[in-house]
Amino acid sequence: MLLEVKDLKTYFHTRRGVVKAVNGVSFTLDAGKTLGLVGESGSGKSITALSLLRLVPEPAGRIAGGEILLDGEDLVKKSAREMRRIRGAKVSMILQDSMMSLNPVYTVGNQVAESIIAHQSIPRGEVHSKVVEMLRLVRIPAPERRAKQYPHEMSGGMRQRVSGAIAFSCQPSLLICDEPTTSLDVTIQAQYLKLLKDIQRETGVAVLFITHDLGVVAKICDDIAVMYAGRIVEMAPAMELLTRPMHPYTEALMKCLPSLDKNVSRLPSIQGAPPTLLQMPPGCSFWPRCPDVRPACKEQYPPFIALNEHHSASCWKLS
Ligand SMILES: Nc1ncnc2c1ncn2[C@@H]1O[C@H](COP(=O)(O)OP(=O)(O)O)[C@@H](O)[C@H]1O
Ligand SMILES: [Mg+2]
Repeated sequence: MLLEVKDLKTYFHTRRGVVKAVNGVSFTLDAGKTLGLVGESGSGKSITALSLLRLVPEPAGRIAGGEILLDGEDLVKKSAREMRRIRGAKVSMILQDSMMSLNPVYTVGNQVAESIIAHQSIPRGEVHSKVVEMLRLVRIPAPERRAKQYPHEMSGGMRQRVSGAIAFSCQPSLLICDEPTTSLDVTIQAQYLKLLKDIQRETGVAVLFITHDLGVVAKICDDIAVMYAGRIVEMAPAMELLTRPMHPYTEALMKCLPSLDKNVSRLPSIQGAPPTLLQMPPGCSFWPRCPDVRPACKEQYPPFIALNEHHSASCWKLS
C-alpha cells in the first residue's frame, strides 16, 4: 500500500469558531491506482489534498489529528524541511489553474528544466533532452520546438500539459490532481483524462483525483470516495459505486449526472445547500437535505457500515 490516511482532521481556527474542514477522513491508495475524491464545492476535498502535502494555510489551519502514511512513514510527523524533500521527490500536485502558475517571462522548456534540476541529480548537459522527454511524455507535439515557446503562445490545453510535465519531472509515486480539467472544454478534458491514464500505465504513478464531477471520476478511477461536509460518506470500486450507490447523497449526485439516453434540458441539482462547517447539525450532516431522513439521523452521526469487503457507507438506513 502506497498511501494510508487514517482519521485525518484538519481544522481552521477562525474568529467565528472552529471550522472542521476535514473531519476524520480515512482511505487507502495502492501504487498505480486511481482514487477519485468527489463532492460538492466546500466539502473539504482541497483541504484534504493540501493536508497530504502539508500545505494547509497556517496559522489559521492545522492538522489536528490522524496519520498520513506514505510508504509507511507518517507525513504528519515530518519537519518542514523533510516535507520539502518529499514534495519534490515522492508527491506532486496538479491544480485546476496550474497552467496559470506558469511564469509568462520564461519559455516552457526553461520552466520544465528548472523543475528537473531541482528534483533530479542529472548532469547539466542532459537536462535539455530530459525536458524534451517530459514534454513527449505529456504528448506535446514537436517538443523540441515547443520547448522554446512562451506560455502565452500555447493553448489552455497545451499549458495544462506543460504543468503536467512539471509535476511528473520529479518522478512522483503519488500525484494529486485537484480539479485539473475543470477549466478545460469537454473535448480537451477527455483528451487530458486519456493522457493521464496512459502516463499512469507508463509510470505506475498512483493518482488521487479530486473533482466535483462524478462523470469525470467515472471515466478514470478504480475507486471512488464521496465526501460531504468534511467526511467520506461512501467509498467503493468505481463501477460498483456508480451502479449501486447506497448513500442518499451519492444517489443525489448521480441524479445530477447528465445521461446520454435521457433527453433532459435542465439537470436537476440537489435540494438545499451543504451545511456551513461552522454550524453543523447534530447527527448526520446530510439529514437536512436527505429525502429518507429518520429520527436516528438527527441524533447521532451514522457509523461507517461495510456492505461488502470493498463497499462502505455511513447512513442509518443501512444499519
Ligand atoms: N483559509 C480558510 N479559513 C477558514 N476556512 C477555510 C479556509 N479554507 C477552507 N476553509 C473551509 O474548508 C471547507 C472545505 O474547503 P475545500 O477543501 O477548499 O473544499 P472543496 O475543495 O471540496 O471545494 C470550506 O467550506 C471552508 O469552510
Ligand atoms: Mg477544491
